[in-house]
Amino acid sequence: MGERIRKLLSEEEIDKRIAEIAEQISRDYGEEQVHLICVLKGGVFFTCELAKRLRVPVSLDFMCVSSYGVDTKSSGVVKIVKDLDEGIEGKNVLVVEDIIDSGRTLSYLLRNLKNRNPKSLKLCTLLDKPERRVVEVNVDYTCFEIPDEFVVGYGLDYAQKYRNLPYVGVVELD
Ligand code: IMP
Ligand code: MG
Repeated sequence: MGERIRKLLSEEEIDKRIAEIAEQISRDYGEEQVHLICVLKGGVFFTCELAKRLRVPVSLDFMCVSSYGVDTKSSGVVKIVKDLDEGIEGKNVLVVEDIIDSGRTLSYLLRNLKNRNPKSLKLCTLLDKPERRVVEVNVDYTCFEIPDEFVVGYGLDYAQKYRNLPYVGVVELD
């Protein structure tokens, strides 16, 4: 079965919106250092673009959790594939995600991180599909709300493909 990608958000639109969100985050944190936690693999492109535009001191760590297999449906199972390198106690943690769908991954992740006693814990996502929410998650910064369609690009994959697209597009199966 083949697939086509229909463009949903252009590279220019995404860049512009990330700059706005970065400005908002910079204002909110003031002089405080922000510890970005990039959720691998999907969050990596967004994290880099966001981090470059922040005017507050930034440190960075990575975590890899998985809730999806090769299919486009959530399994509901969340597992830590790679944990953080450093502790987060006393830090202003900002989790950076590619997309929030059912909310299962983030709800698990936020609970897990909260137990490690950060000074503050916030969530920033490139995309949000609010219609798909099964578990409630408090999202502090959202770049784009999108309809209930499976998207790729800007870090997001379909069976590990298309992460490198510089835009976000909807997967259309033939
Ligand atoms: P959730 O636990 O259902 O919120 O799913 C979160 C994870 O599922 C995201 O971090 C993505 O890795 C993946 N995911 C959800 N929707 C999409 C999509 O439209 N395209 C690609 N990956 C997605
Ligand atoms: Mg993800």
